[in-house]
Amino acid sequence: MLDANATLAVYGPCMGKPRRILTVFGTRPEAIKLFPLVHALERDPRFVSRVCVSGQHRGMLDQVLAISGVTADHDLDLMQPDQTLDGLTAALLTGLGRVMDVEQPDWVVVQGDTATALAGALAAYYRRIPVAHVEAGLRSGDIHHPWPEEVNRKAIGAIAALHLAPTETAAAALLRENCDPARVHVTGNTVIDALHWITGRIAEEPGLASGLAELEQRFAGKRIVGVTSHRRESFGGGMTSIASAIRRIADRSDVAVIFPVHLNPNVRTVMHEALAGLENVALIEPLDYPHFARLLGIATLMLTDSGGVQEEAPALGKPVLVMRETTERPEGIAAGTARLVGTDADRIVSEVTRLLDDPAAYAAMARAHNPFGDGLNAGRIADLLASA
Ligand code: UD1
Ligand code: UDP
Repeated sequence: MLDANATLAVYGPCMGKPRRILTVFGTRPEAIKLFPLVHALERDPRFVSRVCVSGQHRGMLDQVLAISGVTADHDLDLMQPDQTLDGLTAALLTGLGRVMDVEQPDWVVVQGDTATALAGALAAYYRRIPVAHVEAGLRSGDIHHPWPEEVNRKAIGAIAALHLAPTETAAAALLRENCDPARVHVTGNTVIDALHWITGRIAEEPGLASGLAELEQRFAGKRIVGVTSHRRESFGGGMTSIASAIRRIADRSDVAVIFPVHLNPNVRTVMHEALAGLENVALIEPLDYPHFARLLGIATLMLTDSGGVQEEAPALGKPVLVMRETTERPEGIAAGTARLVGTDADRIVSEVTRLLDDPAAYAAMARAHNPFGDGLNAGRIADLLASA
């Protein structure tokens, strides 16, 4: 394991010189959770902020770059259709390493548990550049759920010199793995900063989120079930089962499903085959962040396997049924806003039905909580990066 103190002694910046921070990301959720930090670093004279996007995602990443105004200094543009984990990771490792050789940063920042985050941390470690891990310490305890993210984040945890845990639960997991307590900090989750920022932008410019108006009119009077799904461990049987549950839910005349479909072909093919053309189902392209915030606002409930949505929903008091066997985000469950329902069609249908038909069950879940921080989380991370 990296000796963080030795690394800092060799690579730490001179006193008074701004720290060069290379922020590395490549997918939609990383971009959403890191744009508040990039904004904070850019306006802070203690830093020189550089951004490298891997392009692990393309369209879904570009949507976030466009709305947040973040410009990449480097764009590896790596995405391939239906990319494999090993092909992607190999390309990431060499591509990100080359950028680090050019940039010579004092710190590399990665977020979460994607292939880009893992390769970014590993390339930095190979150059003895200290790594700050945003959203550190999430653990499901099962290396196959979510797959491959549980191993990615554990490996990043073994490398990181600064662990920025979103919650006390995440910090406790890191301490159980013998991380140096002086290097583990509870910061909140920057997704809340992102949500506040986007809500503010929509308030200034309502047109940013008005593109769902036609669907809202088509489904007027119905209760909206918002759906997202993309987990690799659900490809095949899990996805088919989710699709069949949605079909049954959409049989109800008082319900409409709005489902922005992930661009992964393993999701799209199944969902389009099973659900295209149904009267009460809108299969739509991935929404940009303002429109997704609008969907969270108008939905009666969310049915999802997303990590980020499990964090946004409690802040908005929106019930979330999580189509996974386990979660690394127990806070939403503890707060009562989220419930694990797995991918079995009967279970999904019965849990959705319960929420739709039992006002007491619905009211018990539809309460806003703040387990992921106050929206000032990126500023805390910047302060830690300045003083580490
Ligand atoms: C990735 C992350 C996952 C994260 C998810 C967020 C890994 C291993 N997986 O999974 O942790 O939760 O992003 O969405 O890092 N595609 C496009 N355009 C895009 C994005 C994806 O066409 O903008 C298609 C491509 O065919 C691509 C495929 O989706 O090959 C899979 O993308 P990939 O990033 O490998 O996996 P995700 O399932 O998106
Ligand atoms: N999101 C979005 N548009 C969509 C679906 C999701 O902007 O059509 C946002 C959502 O608000 C959350 C993030 O994307 O912040 C979650 O991304 P995803 O589910 O792809 O990844 P995960 O969080 O599971 O890693």
